[in-house]
Amino acid sequence: MAIDRFGRNINYLRISLTDHCNLRCLYCMPEDMTFRPNPELMQDDELLLLVRLFAQLGFEKYRLTGGEPTVHPRVVELVRAIKKNPGVRSLTMTTNGVLLPRLAKPLAEAGLDRVNISLDTLDPKKFQRLTRRGKLEQVWEGIQAAEAAGLVPVKLNVVVVRGYNEGDVADLARLSLSHAWQIRFIEMMPFAGSTDLQLQATVTAAEIRQRIEAELGALEVVNGGELDGETRLFRLRGGVGEVGFISSVTMPFCAACTRARLTADGRLRLCLLREGEVDLLTPLRAGASLEDLRQLILDGVWVKPWGHGLAEGLIPLNRVMSEIGG
Ligand code: 5AD
Ligand code: SF4
Repeated sequence: MAIDRFGRNINYLRISLTDHCNLRCLYCMPEDMTFRPNPELMQDDELLLLVRLFAQLGFEKYRLTGGEPTVHPRVVELVRAIKKNPGVRSLTMTTNGVLLPRLAKPLAEAGLDRVNISLDTLDPKKFQRLTRRGKLEQVWEGIQAAEAAGLVPVKLNVVVVRGYNEGDVADLARLSLSHAWQIRFIEMMPFAGSTDLQLQATVTAAEIRQRIEAELGALEVVNGGELDGETRLFRLRGGVGEVGFISSVTMPFCAACTRARLTADGRLRLCLLREGEVDLLTPLRAGASLEDLRQLILDGVWVKPWGHGLAEGLIPLNRVMSEIGG
């Protein structure tokens, strides 16, 4: 088991398959984003070797992120190979959904369990403005394809940005009345790349909730108010799906965090919102033994930070969101 010095059992690995993306969401990256050249990124054999080590160390839950994981040319094969590891209990993906119409079925057949799909608005024009290039209908088709392929329950991630989509939250929450989806509203977090926007346009979960209840009536607590991962879950009266809030900024869930992240360039990052990282890829390429690599992972996990420092004004500036994976 990989335990940190606070006694947390770190068993959830989020892997950024690539920093590349086919969208340019304005809360995630600058418009003129340049991506890393391929040789700097983990190659398939390197990634699979590291996953084997993590699985041996007791990591059970895996999520593929990006950038956009589906733009990786061999994403289906990677899913199949990762899922083959004994010890990999669940394998999920966070995606913008654009390529799911084509990929949902092969991904499910390769062993992917579920997907979270980003969808910030139901208005095609606003969608285009937020993603700088996306077509809403592709994502909508992607959601249907995911459901048809059995990648359920489908979870939708909504990042709320003042001036762009704060007026759309009730329409999105309404989807949970007739669809067995979980609509999760995320407080925008500050990273390098678009920090000004992120600092000025965050909408709190409390405000999002008020806006939803003003239009759709009271939200009822699900799970007795227990956190489901990082999400506080509710239901609209009569709804078949759920509405969730991820309030990383105003109500951090750090104490219960069991995550670590592997960046596309092979760094182990222990907190999304802190800059510290352990380089695994350079030693791997320099011929480090499996035992050395295991020890690097265990040592990194041991010093996982207690929590983020947003309240003290500490913002991670060494990477944009798409390089770390959400
Ligand atoms: N704050 C919060 N969430 C973000 N995401 C991307 N950038 C931010 C940010 N600044 C979300 C995306 C996606 C996931 C990968 O992370 O919406 O759902
Ligand atoms: Fe791409 Fe996701 Fe970032 Fe949007 S939020 S630019 S879809 S990585």
